[in-house]
Amino acid sequence: MHWRRAACRPGNTEEGIRTLNFLKAMFKLPLVFCIVMFWIACSNNKTKDNAAIFRNSTVISIDSAGWPQSFGFGKTATAAIIAAMDKDVSPDGKGLPHGSGNAVTGSLVYANKCVTCHGTNNTSAGGKLPGPPLFANPDSPQIKTIGNYWPYATTIFDYVRRSMPYNAPGSLTDNEVYAVTAYLLHANKLLDTVTSIDATSLPKIIMPAQKRFVADDRKGGPEVK
Ligand code: HEC
Repeated sequence: MHWRRAACRPGNTEEGIRTLNFLKAMFKLPLVFCIVMFWIACSNNKTKDNAAIFRNSTVISIDSAGWPQSFGFGKTATAAIIAAMDKDVSPDGKGLPHGSGNAVTGSLVYANKCVTCHGTNNTSAGGKLPGPPLFANPDSPQIKTIGNYWPYATTIFDYVRRSMPYNAPGSLTDNEVYAVTAYLLHANKLLDTVTSIDATSLPKIIMPAQKRFVADDRKGGPEVK
């Protein structure tokens, strides 16, 4: 076309190029209009087609499609798997395993497997670490920790054994759990460094927060949610 050739010719003025761009834009407008109209027409037809299909077809219930016996997820819970998980410890110490440990050994477990996330007595406050602080701080009594809020020492053992370290739950031996529990009690000024704790002595340690809780004696019914 004439305007195209003109645009390529050397020596065109700026005004000439502007006029050319304007003309190009004007040529494109009808094209855009056509595309939009075509698209609208097609989508209307589709809706009508779909409506017709639904009117004429029998609706098949998804539930009657026949589910497979198994989707292949998970694995069978063997007695050994269940036994490994079924190890809860009650507040009164029921369920505590054999073994023992003291705060000295526990401080090593803590340094190797816990401090990266929970910090030390000095670094744990402030909420900047991945794990919550584990040491009660008299200057910030509003921050709930195991030392000032947990009612039973046995719960520390139970919780740590089943869920810590966060990145490898269940990996500690029972002796390591006793030891690190002893260390946490010591760091919260509830146990000396050398006394070992075990299934008999741990339930006897009275936590400061125990008096703040009442036993849940509800037997069920509408008030229990
Ligand atoms: C990779 C990070 C990480 C490591 C390592 C780790 N923890 Fe934790 N810990 C957490 C996090 C995160 C939570 C909070 C979990 C939640 O509330 O669900 C937590 C919670 C706890 C709590 C409960 C505190 C509370 O007030 O609720 C205790 C006790 C605890 N950890 C002990 C330990 C001990 C002992 C070790 C080492 C054997 C350990 N953790 C290692 C991340 C970690």
